[in-house]
Amino acid sequence: MVQRQANDAAIRDAAALLRNGGLVAFPTETVYGLGADATNDRAVARIFEAKGRPQFNPLIVHALDIRVHEAWVTCDDRALALAAHFWPGALTLVLPRRQDAPLSLLVSAGLETVAVRVPDHPVARSLLAAAEIPIAAPSANRSGRLSPTTAAHVADSLGDGVDMILDGGACAGGLESTVLSLAEEVPTLLRPGLVTHAALEAVIGSVRTAEDGAAIAAPGMMRSHYAPAAALRLNATAAQGENEAEALLAFGPDVPADFTLVQNLSATGDPVEAAANLFRMLHDLDRAGPAGIAIMPIPDEGLGVAINDRLKRAAHRD
Ligand code: TXA
Ligand code: MG
Repeated sequence: MVQRQANDAAIRDAAALLRNGGLVAFPTETVYGLGADATNDRAVARIFEAKGRPQFNPLIVHALDIRVHEAWVTCDDRALALAAHFWPGALTLVLPRRQDAPLSLLVSAGLETVAVRVPDHPVARSLLAAAEIPIAAPSANRSGRLSPTTAAHVADSLGDGVDMILDGGACAGGLESTVLSLAEEVPTLLRPGLVTHAALEAVIGSVRTAEDGAAIAAPGMMRSHYAPAAALRLNATAAQGENEAEALLAFGPDVPADFTLVQNLSATGDPVEAAANLFRMLHDLDRAGPAGIAIMPIPDEGLGVAINDRLKRAAHRD
């Protein structure tokens, strides 16, 4: 595995690697992706190998604009309206797959749909332009681990499983994209993310959430998908007993004084700042090897919904 600063020469080499079936981790505006040629079955299979995924979860296909995506999915008026509003950006649309789509079937993991996205990060866009192929990319972490927001997180998690890591600095978003299914008549939010439920409804009207009893459950919605090694204790407002080995992931200005290892998602209680810090801080606390991580309550509104969704999954133990 080589890690390189994402300059023009490195991006050219990364594009050549991708065209030859290699795996390249690259930054997007949400998290780092583990990219492969979406038209190459072997390359896509290597993604699952590198991630150590227990199943073939379907993957998001990244391209430079909607016209490219229209070669493999059918875009209705809702998709066009959402694309006009949010692309390039942190929204993934699940759309009906065209019969003759020149994409690996593994990308869809057996479904009759493809998840597509147009990323808004200069390195991701330069890579797509240089490679001239669609890039299938899940988050660049081993299965069940935290999504990576820096090149160092990718190296820690995937090591030699990836051929090259393009280092483009820390991801500004810090949370994955919102996944919206338009595969059925009723638009269904499969994964909360940086684009909020309210923002989607402002463009296309009513959007149901998975909690409304939607039949489809994205495989990535498995409850333990985002688990760090340490046990998490949610909605903590004070230390538990004399457990000094517990770390604290704080939120807001009123931080209990009885913890030694503390990171604050946002001292001002700003959910956007908290989202940007979430994975990095959980990574950092987890790496210190605490007995557990206590997490302060985060208001369940706006981006707080997406943060709490991640934390609930991370806290779940079978
Ligand atoms: O921000 C992001 O979306 C990042 C960057 C790299 O683009 N990617 C990412 O990919 O988070 P991944 O594979 O970690 O998550 C993709 C999510 C999973 O929950 C997966 O189940 C769902 O999208 N998904 C993908 N294709 C789908 C499909 N055809 N139908 C339903 N859900 C799908
Ligand atoms: Mg992921």
